[in-house]
Amino acid sequence: MPINKNLINSHLDTDFIGRKIHLFDKLTSTNEKAHELAMAGAPEGTAVIAESQTSGKGRRGRVWFSPSGRNIYTSIILRPSISPEDAPKLTLVAAVALAEAIIESLKSFGVHSTGIKWPNDILIDKKKCAGILTEMKINSDGLVFVIIGIGINVNMDLCDIPTELKTDATSLSIELGDTLSREGILQSLYSKIENWYKRYLSEGFLPIKERWEVLSAIKGAFVRAASSVDGLHSYEEGEALGLDDEGELLIKKDDGTVIAVRTGDIAIL
Ligand code: BTN
Repeated sequence: MPINKNLINSHLDTDFIGRKIHLFDKLTSTNEKAHELAMAGAPEGTAVIAESQTSGKGRRGRVWFSPSGRNIYTSIILRPSISPEDAPKLTLVAAVALAEAIIESLKSFGVHSTGIKWPNDILIDKKKCAGILTEMKINSDGLVFVIIGIGINVNMDLCDIPTELKTDATSLSIELGDTLSREGILQSLYSKIENWYKRYLSEGFLPIKERWEVLSAIKGAFVRAASSVDGLHSYEEGEALGLDDEGELLIKKDDGTVIAVRTGDIAIL
């Protein structure tokens, strides 16, 4: 069944997130459409949803696999009065909300091993079921808007997943053996994003950091953080300790030194 906007609206308890939804059958990318709408003045909380994306964007220039009719591809416009330096923290705000929404949707099925891999992957048993791509528009006055793009593999079957992703990706329905209502997940996601976003604006980053660490799939684990800058690849390994006040991942190396990782990909070793 295609996503039904009225079903999302029917129980939506938010003040502004998802109050205006633009639903499309096919887009290049919901982030691109949200960017276009934000440039045209769309208000904070405006959400874009697509049944499929022809050029779904992942982090670090990757493609987000976006088959039709099974998953969630949504982007939300935010207009916070914060500095561009603080905008990446909104990815962690969204990651906390997304993890909670997924855990809630799986709860009644008894699937517990869900957590966040820094900065924004949601894992079930070490396989990725959702990701977040945050993009922002800045001008000479500062931050103009932020687009939070979220992809959730909801009802995709194992046979839908391309071979090269099979070992690392999963969907909620693969884990449950049952299909889920995409409208129900969107409703819960919009509500949780709004709650955590309001909390971040009123109380700062500390509550987000604390909740992120509780929901983390990597805290205490031995990890490898790989990054590439100007074509130069490097990595650091050690125990993931948690987040610092800027949302960077703290890693304790074997020699006891603690480093903060700002960008890159994490592998659990
Ligand atoms: C990642 O983990 O690499 C981030 C994936 C983000 C994918 C979503 S799908 C909806 C939105 N539109 C896009 O083009 N990308 C994000």
